[in-house]
Amino acid sequence: MWTKGSYCGKKNNKGIHKKMKTFDLTEQYKIFKKDINKKILDILSSGSYILGDNVKSFEQNVRKYLNTRYALSCNSGTDALVMSLRALNIGSNDQVITTPFTYFATSEAISLVGAKPIFADINPHTFNINPKKIEKLITKRTKAILSVNLFGQACELDKISRIAKKYNLPHIEDCAQSFGATYKTKQTGSYGDLGCFSFFPTKNLGCFGDGGLITVKSRKIYETLLKLRTHGGTKRNQHDMIGYNSRLDEIQAAILDVKLKHINKLIKKRIDVAQSYYKLIKNKNIRLPYKDSNGKHTFNQFTIRVENRNKLEKHLRKHKIPYGIYYPKPIYKYKAYINSRYSDLPMVEKVSNQCLSLPIYPELELRNIKIISNVLNDYE
Ligand SMILES: Cc1ncc(COP(=O)(O)O)c(C=O)c1O
Repeated sequence: MWTKGSYCGKKNNKGIHKKMKTFDLTEQYKIFKKDINKKILDILSSGSYILGDNVKSFEQNVRKYLNTRYALSCNSGTDALVMSLRALNIGSNDQVITTPFTYFATSEAISLVGAKPIFADINPHTFNINPKKIEKLITKRTKAILSVNLFGQACELDKISRIAKKYNLPHIEDCAQSFGATYKTKQTGSYGDLGCFSFFPTKNLGCFGDGGLITVKSRKIYETLLKLRTHGGTKRNQHDMIGYNSRLDEIQAAILDVKLKHINKLIKKRIDVAQSYYKLIKNKNIRLPYKDSNGKHTFNQFTIRVENRNKLEKHLRKHKIPYGIYYPKPIYKYKAYINSRYSDLPMVEKVSNQCLSLPIYPELELRNIKIISNVLNDYE
């Protein structure tokens, strides 16, 4: 459990960091090990492994935490997106406006239901979709707006929801990276008609496998989602539509329920790591992440920008500092979309050449943050 020393890591005999990683998932397991192991053993002996009491409990608790009307767990963030689009009846010949700067799954989900992703350029400071670019892309074929709260920071959700309302379009929030982030007074996932979360292990709230969740405002859509989650029906031998097998299992739900109790602390630790970076990195060649004062950034990623990323990568590799490139190109540049003839959007083109994400996770020690910051300060 949480003890004062929970975040002390290992030092080798020279006092230098050992195996620094972009994420270290083992440290968090150590903190919750006792509770998680007990839950897992109880589930193993219970014989109830799928959609049981642990799933019910987690769904209720997460619904309260996110302050939404309905919450439905599923197998992954990707499934959450696909099922949300299906529940809105979006399919072939339809268009969905989204961001080109995100993990592939966002636009993949749109393509999987047969619709076409239409990309609106981003705000280079927040990395999020620029609401000013949305309206002019709306056509008769537009059936939804799918925004992404990237790197743990909310989009300008009120503006996007307002545009969606004006054109009578549903607004889906991809919250895979933003569990616990807020915008103005509300949690991400509670602005849109639907919110899609991922519990992939590196997320703000992560399980030990795949997991996802959908927050929903409308009872009708919730009921459709309940069916979509289990082969198109909620009763044995009921198949009202073509659905999916997308259930969260009991073990993952129990793990998530244990961690959910401590989520504010886990997020606070991420913010503390980010604050240390803000304090320690002093290099005019490095642009630190912009924080929108309207929201709480949860720093699922700490993404900096530099003019010459190749040079910085070389410098980091030389000093054995791990990093990630999220994301190296706009979605429309991936091979999967090569035949779709999208035109380049200036901001995402620029940002995807400049961005680089530093190690960040709640248990990252100050000692390592200092090492990383010093290496960055030496970069010319
Ligand atoms: C923005 C975004 N959307 C969707 C997903 C898909 O989530 P999952 O991996 O749980 O399917 C991810 C996962 O990384 C993501 O970052």
